Formats: sequence, structure tokens, C-alpha cells
Amino acid sequence: MNNWFTRQSLYARLALVIFCSFLVVGVFSVIVLMRSSRAYQQEVTQIMHRDLAPFVVDHYLLFNEGKPDLSAIEHTFHDLMILGPNFEFYLLDTQGKILAYSADPTKIKRKTIQIEDIKRFSSSAKRGIVFGDDPRSSTRKKVFSAAPIYNKNKLVGYLYVILGSEIYDDIASMVTESQMIKWGVWLFAAGLGFALLTMLWVTGLFTRPLTRLTQQITHLQKSGFDQQQVAAEVVEQNLQHWRDDSDNEIHTLGCAFTQLLDKLNQQYTNVLTIDQLRKELLSHVSHDLRTPLASLLGYLETWEMNRDNLSEQQSTEYIAIARKSAERISKLVEQLFELAHLDSGTVQVNREPFSLPELVQDVMQKFQISAQEKQITLNMEPKNSHIRVVGDIEKLDRVFSNLMENAIRHTNPGGSVTIRLSPENRTVAVEVTDTGIGIPEVDVPHVFDAHYKAGNSVRGNTAHGGLGLAITKKLLDLHQSRIRVTSQVNEGTTFQFQLEAAG
Ligand SMILES: Nc1ncnc2c1ncn2[C@@H]1O[C@H](COP(=O)(O)OP(=O)(O)OP(=O)(O)O)[C@@H](O)[C@H]1O
Ligand SMILES: [Mg+2]
Repeated sequence: MNNWFTRQSLYARLALVIFCSFLVVGVFSVIVLMRSSRAYQQEVTQIMHRDLAPFVVDHYLLFNEGKPDLSAIEHTFHDLMILGPNFEFYLLDTQGKILAYSADPTKIKRKTIQIEDIKRFSSSAKRGIVFGDDPRSSTRKKVFSAAPIYNKNKLVGYLYVILGSEIYDDIASMVTESQMIKWGVWLFAAGLGFALLTMLWVTGLFTRPLTRLTQQITHLQKSGFDQQQVAAEVVEQNLQHWRDDSDNEIHTLGCAFTQLLDKLNQQYTNVLTIDQLRKELLSHVSHDLRTPLASLLGYLETWEMNRDNLSEQQSTEYIAIARKSAERISKLVEQLFELAHLDSGTVQVNREPFSLPELVQDVMQKFQISAQEKQITLNMEPKNSHIRVVGDIEKLDRVFSNLMENAIRHTNPGGSVTIRLSPENRTVAVEVTDTGIGIPEVDVPHVFDAHYKAGNSVRGNTAHGGLGLAITKKLLDLHQSRIRVTSQVNEGTTFQFQLEAAG
């Protein structure tokens, strides 16, 4: 039973407990009402008819010369019964033994009446109910009126009158008799029923949010957490439903559940994204490394097999190509490590003030030869400035190198690459502009994604893995700087970012 009860829903259990309480209270109240009403009726009956027995004794002759006059008594009792059918008359001797009576002889169950009750009745004050033996039953007591009978000042017996002979004998008969009580009971039952329904309704109202929460959890459990749509919908609905500013415990629980779900959902999405990125990275890495590795191995094998037949020049050529492939592999691996390191979130930034034109000059120096080969002019504006910024020199060197390398590579001979430094309020704006081929509009939003190569890239170009700008963006993120790009196809491209001015 206990198990069965605890397995039911909260609402069902509350409803059952309330229903049982109301039932117990209702039944108990009706019994108390009936009993008190009956006691009241009996008290009123006894008070009203208290003088009935003395009156009969005074006005009717029941004893003749100390002996009961049975024919006169029978006559008297018969007359009195006609006047008051609810009374039963008994003539008792001084010990309480029944000498004569008005009732049906077959129904009489006692021969004597306890005389103490009669004495108590005679001596008691006007108020206060006194019960005496009912001759019709060996156990039952009833209200009565009694009076002693004297003959020449000598006590010869008692007249004992049972009041309300057969009425109000049981509660059921009382209810059927009294319309008032009937209405009262109905009214009470209706009131109780109404209160019960109200309580059930209110309980339902209180437990509904819990039911809702339970349904959501079950729904989520059934749909599985991989159905992120479901979790997102539940979070969305709950955000509107639960109020986290209220003291209501169920609302607090609902909010906590929503927050937990939201967090889990975000983490699940993160895990999925990371997993997806990991897969993509693996496929890119294997693809990027495969070509230079194949080339490296191919040239080395060919050189090894034909070593004796190759001229010195051919040998040098073979080794140079193999070396170039090895350099590409080395660069790619280095970039991948750099990106992974930047993603790990454990990168230290050594911020220090330094001269920005000096750094730009160094970078331009590095690319001078390759620029000259492509007949591209490298400029810095303004030419001889003393602009100082705060940042990590090594990381910013990588930023400028990446941008410069891209710019030279995507600019046709005769073009130019310009690095412009413009001191502003507390920052220095940096622009790297080229007069190159530009980036197609559709590719612009993606150029900072790792492994993204825009449509302008040379097909089959395996020397570049599309990691440079992704690394550049992360390096500038560490400097709280955001890099932006504007580009026009066949006109040129400009990358812009800002650095913190020193002092
Ligand atoms: N200055 C530029 N002009 C035109 N296109 C550019 C320029 N800079 C970058 N891009 C385009 O953006 C793409 C991404 O650049 P990113 O530097 O990330 O990769 P990558 O240069 O191809 O390879 P990596 O830098 O790893 O050697 C390039 O492939 C190129 O298509
Ligand atoms: Mg690049």
C-alpha cells in the first residue's frame, strides 16, 4: 500500500489525502451534529414534560387504600395514551418493580426500573438531563418524568413516564423525521463537497508547474540529448515561463533546470563543433601533407635509384626540389602547431613598448628579395616616424609577416604593398594595403577561417594551407585587437587593425 501510494503522482496523492480528510471530518461532524441535536431534543422534551408525572399523580387515582387499582389504572393509562401517544406510563412499587404499564406487553424487556435514577430526577434542579431505564430494552436509557405516589403520607409507589416513547430512537429515524436536520445535513454535505472541489482545484493549480517540469524532463529523456532542437525549444519555452525573481520554489527549480539544460546544450554543441573541427583538421592536414610528402619521397627515390646516371646539375636539382617539399611540410606542421597552441588558451603575451616603424622595417627587409623578384614595391607611411606601441614583438612580427607574404603573393608584378601607421587617440591604426588581385566578395567573410582558401588561390597550390590569416586573427585577439578586411577584385586588398599606443 505504501509502495502503491508513493508511486502515484503528487497531485493524486494530495487529492487522496484531502479527500480522505474531508470524508473523516464530514462523517465525524455529521455524527456529532446528530448526537448533539438528539441530546438537545431529549433535554427539551424532559424539561417540557417534567411535570407530567406529578400532574397525573395529583389528578388521577392510581392507588386505592395503599394497593394499585389496576382497572382504574388501565383506564387512566388508556385515556392518557390517546392524548399523548408518545408517552409510555408505568406504575412502579417503591423498589422500582413494574406493577402496571400502558405499552404492548410483548415489547417489555424489564421487570424493574433503577430507583436511583428516579430519585436523582426528583432531587435534580429544573435543568440537567437525567436518563432512566427503558423497559422496552434491557440496556437502553431514555428521558422520563416520574413522581412518587403517597397514600396517607406513606410512599406506596411511583408513576414513571417514558417521554418520546418510540421517537428519536435512532439517528436514521431522527433524520427522516426532521426536515430541518435533513436540510442541515444536505447543506453541510454540499458545503463540504464544494470545499473539497476547491481544494482539489487549488492543489491542481499548485502542482501543475511540477507536472509540466516532469513532462519536459521525460520528453527530453525520450528524445535523447542529441536532439538539440528539443532541448533548445524547452529552454526557449521555459525562459518565458519561469520567473527567476520570484520566491516560488517551483519557479526557482524551473529556472535552475532551464539554466542547467542551457549549459548542457551549449556544452553539447561545443563538443559537436570541436569534434567536427577535429575531423576537418585531420582531413585537411592529411591532404595538405600528402602532396609535398609524395613529392619529397618521389624525388629522393628517383635520385637514389639513378644516382650513378645523373649529372651533377640534375642531382642538385632533384635535391633542391626534395628540400623545398620538406620545407613546405615543415612550414605546415609549424603552422598547425601554432594554431593548436593558440587554441589551447594557454598562450602567454609578453607585452612591452617598442617602436612600430622599426618592426615594420625589419619585416619589409625580410620580404625585400621576394618583392624585388616580383617587381613589387614595398612602402611604409609615414616614412621616418617614432610611433611606439605596446604588444608582444614576436607575435606582431608574425602578424606583419603573414599579411606581407599574402599581399606579395596576390599582387601582380609592378604593383605595390603599403603599410600605413596612423596614430590616433590612444591607439595606432595599422593598414596593410596591396594593389593586387583582390578577394572575391563571397570569400571575404571566410578568409579568417582556418584552411579557407579563397577563389583567387592558385589551384593545386599545396604550399599554402590557408592557416596564415587564422593564426593572424588569433594573435591579434590576444592583443584585444580585431582585424578587418576590405577588398575589390583586380584593385587590391586592405587589412586593418589597431594596436595600443605606448605611454
Ligand atoms: N592580400 C590578399 N589578396 C588577395 N587574396 C588574399 C590576400 N590575403 C589572403 N587572401 C586570400 O585568403 C586566403 C587565406 O589566406 P591565408 O593567409 O589564411 O592562407 P594562405 O595564404 O593560402 O596559406 P598560408 O598562409 O597558410 O600559407 C588565401 O588563400 C587567399 O585566397
Ligand atoms: Mg597566408
